[in-house]
Amino acid sequence: MPLSSFARVQLAHLPTPLEPLTRLSQMLGGPRIYIKRDDCTGLAGGGNKTRKLEFLMGDALEKACDFILTAGGLQSNHARQTAAAAAKLGLDCELFLESVPGTPSSDYDRNGNLLLDRLLGAGVQRCPGDGSLLTRMEARAEELRREGRTPYVVPVGGSSGIGALGYADCALELIKQCQAQELEPDHIWMATGSGGTQAGLLAGLALAQSKVPLTGINVSATEEVQKAKLRPVLAETFGLLGLALPDLDDVICDENFYLPGYGIPNEGTLEAIRLLAVSEAILLDPVYSGKAMAGLIARIREGAFSSRDTVVFLHSGGAAALFAYETLL
Ligand SMILES: Cc1ncc(COP(=O)(O)O)c(C=O)c1O
Repeated sequence: MPLSSFARVQLAHLPTPLEPLTRLSQMLGGPRIYIKRDDCTGLAGGGNKTRKLEFLMGDALEKACDFILTAGGLQSNHARQTAAAAAKLGLDCELFLESVPGTPSSDYDRNGNLLLDRLLGAGVQRCPGDGSLLTRMEARAEELRREGRTPYVVPVGGSSGIGALGYADCALELIKQCQAQELEPDHIWMATGSGGTQAGLLAGLALAQSKVPLTGINVSATEEVQKAKLRPVLAETFGLLGLALPDLDDVICDENFYLPGYGIPNEGTLEAIRLLAVSEAILLDPVYSGKAMAGLIARIREGAFSSRDTVVFLHSGGAAALFAYETLL
């Protein structure tokens, strides 16, 4: 089915800007770096999930759902944007949020995204990090059904085929902007977690028959585990759009920058956050975009690009979480 035939609600400020990072490019002596500002999607702090939620909420409204549930880590940007989408559409919302081992304790469990979740009117169910999150959320959905409500369970990270359509659309938007700015990107660079953003971008690039390589920097997993997560989302997304599925061997999920683990920034992440702040006044985040940028900086320093190359970095948002990491920054 064509992208335009899927239900969609307008939540994001689109198109997001595509801008040069001139000072950063000069400082690194590397390729021309452009940034796609999906941190500026506009919905209560913005970020990549807003694009996915345009399609997910479209689906929820089409199914006459009146209660939105989702799950994630305590500082989930996805949960915050879902709470915001529900508030904007006048729907009830409950978030199932679990502790993340190894994250800083003082602000992590009350500030940042968690503060915003509450402000946005979402109910917050705090769960232990024991793998029971999805079972608890499903049990709550069942309870709501018995009470006569119509719940809509948004998958973790918004990463279903429907959610990923938001990033197929983003790829088309980006290609149009590149044409308008007479840019021919040699590479697109991004953070990959639950996989929907990467799956959607790959689908959009395939729709446009673009061969630009896309590097996903894993934020939480080895290449093998990441590809196992990506496989079903990719299949669903390409299936919805009637596209031929790419070979997973051709998909890049770089495992070299995520350690020590999900939600825990390493030295490279912290350096990237500081460098982007002082050179470009861009606020990266400690969990996703900071790790992705650390990967790009490392590859530039290794000489992976020439100064004539053009790299587009997708800023997927997440700066609200900075306030939960004060002790590390
Ligand atoms: C700021 C930010 N960047 C990137 C991602 C990763 O996107 P995906 O889960 O679609 O791989 C997330 C997911 O929560 C995020 O919050």
